[in-house]
Amino acid sequence: MKCRVCRGPAVIDVRRHNAAFCPEHFVTHCREQVRRAVHDHRMLEPGERVLVAVSGGKDSLALWDLLVDLGYDVDGLYLGLGIDQYSDESIRYARGFAGARGLKLHEVDLGDDFGFDIPAAVAVTHRSPCGACGLSKRHLFNAVALEHGYDVVATGHNLDDEAAVLLGNVLRWDAGYLGRQHPVLPAAEGFARKVKPLVRLGEREMAAYCVVQGIDYQVEECPMAAGNKHLGYKEILNALEDRSPGSKAAFLFGFLERGHARFAADARQEREALGVCRKCSAPTTTDVCAFCKLRERAS
Ligand code: AMP
Ligand code: FES
Ligand code: ZN
Ligand code: ZN
Repeated sequence: MKCRVCRGPAVIDVRRHNAAFCPEHFVTHCREQVRRAVHDHRMLEPGERVLVAVSGGKDSLALWDLLVDLGYDVDGLYLGLGIDQYSDESIRYARGFAGARGLKLHEVDLGDDFGFDIPAAVAVTHRSPCGACGLSKRHLFNAVALEHGYDVVATGHNLDDEAAVLLGNVLRWDAGYLGRQHPVLPAAEGFARKVKPLVRLGEREMAAYCVVQGIDYQVEECPMAAGNKHLGYKEILNALEDRSPGSKAAFLFGFLERGHARFAADARQEREALGVCRKCSAPTTTDVCAFCKLRERAS
């Protein structure tokens, strides 16, 4: 296996691009994919302040590294979910990365700051862990960005994540979700802009990026997410990708180019119907937002 660029020994092949890379040119490839995603979807403007949500896993640490490398002004946000040993470990990786590079990391802890954690939320609501967890993350990423004046929140969702979410949304033909599924959600009243600069890179590439760059990350997956629907969708998409490399990218980018606009009105209608939470003033369709309701019940 030879590097596509320099013909030296390659360390990773990317079948969807029909290419292999040496460590140096693999890093260039990842950087180029992020640069293209940012450019094509107009995610970031020079001089904007970016808040990257970091879990301590490979995707979000690689994203932070790549954005700093591309010259953006990026701080991190870690959210403590209180999932036992998993959370204790994940914060160590987030702090380790930020500390070694002199980067600023905001830390918010569900337990200390809001009086409940994800296991407590699951116990009282009987919601799926990922439901309560996703709701808390969306709410707090946005709230912290607005509070500290960041222009945009970046998350480490990659091509595999986005293709799996799309498959789920298509299986249910959920028009509102399909209208909101985009690598950029523009800012609106009460919302910071949200961007996903890793949409052009797969999970395997992000793990390889961390290894090549010497980034220490939490390898273990969240124990509460085991068996969730998205993991099943990922397995199905991986089987497809194996038979025909490029299927995932064709599925996701075909939707973004030719399908998304058809659902945009559904998402717009949902946003226009939003009022303000009586307790925390976050945008909501009800009197009290879903995060405040969850907090009330679980704390
Ligand atoms: P997940 O929902 O676990 O697939 O994570 C998707 C993205 O959300 C990650 O790439 C991070 O950008 C962000 N994220 C997940 N967990 C946390 C956390 N505990 N604190 C901050 N950001 C997180
Ligand atoms: Fe959210 Fe595990 S990280 S349920
Ligand atoms: Zn090379
Ligand atoms: Zn609220």
